[in-house]
Parts: sequence; structure tokens; C-alpha cells
Amino acid sequence: MAVLDGDRVVAALRGAFAREAGRAELLRLAAEKIRAAGAPYTSVYLYMVHGGELLLEAFAGRETDHTRIAVGQGVCGTAVATGEDQNVPDVRAVSNYLACNTWTRSELVVLIRRGGTILGQIDVDSDVPDPFTPEEESEVRKVADALAVLL
Ligand code: SME
Repeated sequence: MAVLDGDRVVAALRGAFAREAGRAELLRLAAEKIRAAGAPYTSVYLYMVHGGELLLEAFAGRETDHTRIAVGQGVCGTAVATGEDQNVPDVRAVSNYLACNTWTRSELVVLIRRGGTILGQIDVDSDVPDPFTPEEESEVRKVADALAVLL
């Protein structure tokens, strides 16, 4: 069973949307609710596509210096450039990894897509090695798919 209950996060997002929460609040809520699941969810970042760059629009957990990432750079930029989610079990094994801190061991990037357009991504950092099973990933994808509709 997955640690994250994606349906609960989606319900919270729909509730906020019904109360007319704007984009910034929806993104912040998504980051906070996912992080609230606890380990292996250490920090959650919402990077959104603006032209050829990803801009950090919301996060929960550790601060990062990477507030802008070029498409193609790092794990986050690679996800957008290739159009594929990234599940990195050991960040030390990735040559183009952009490190935010020394504790992060693994990373999961799930794209937020609306039709053929990539709007952005949910980027999860974990201090736990290789924690993101296909079940865990699909719970995060529920949140990404809901954001694609609500933003
Ligand atoms: N590690 C990411 C950069 C973002 S931070 O993890 C918040 C990357 O390699 O793209």
C-alpha cells in the first residue's frame, strides 16, 4: 500500500477550487498535502513551465536555491525535455543531478499535463533510498492530473 493517499489530496484541492482558491494557493496546498504524508516525502516542489524554463511556484519542506531550471537541465528539466516522468532511486548515480542539499537520496518527478501540453511538474525529494514504487508514483500522478484540470 502507498504512503500517499492521492484521492485525499485531490479532494482537498477540489474543495479549495470550489472556494475559489487561485493558482498559487492550489499549488501550495498540493505541496503541503503531499509532504504531510511524511517519509518518504521529505520535500515537495511545484515547478511550472514558463517558456524554456521551469519556475518554482510553490514548495513545502526544505528551501532550494533552484528557483529557475532550464528545460533539459537536471532531473526536473530532463522530465520536460523528454516528456517522461523521472523516478531516480539514487541521485548520486545521476550525472546531471542538481543537488539542493546533502541529505536527499532519491527524487520523483511527475509531469502535470493537459492534453499534449506540459504545464509543469511535481518534484518530490526523499531522504530515503529508492522509495517510490509504481503504486506510490500513481498516487502522486492523481494529484498531478487533478492540478492539470483545476489550474
Ligand atoms: N534535483 C533537481 C533540482 C530541484 S531540487 O531537487 C528542489 C534536479 O536535478 O533537477
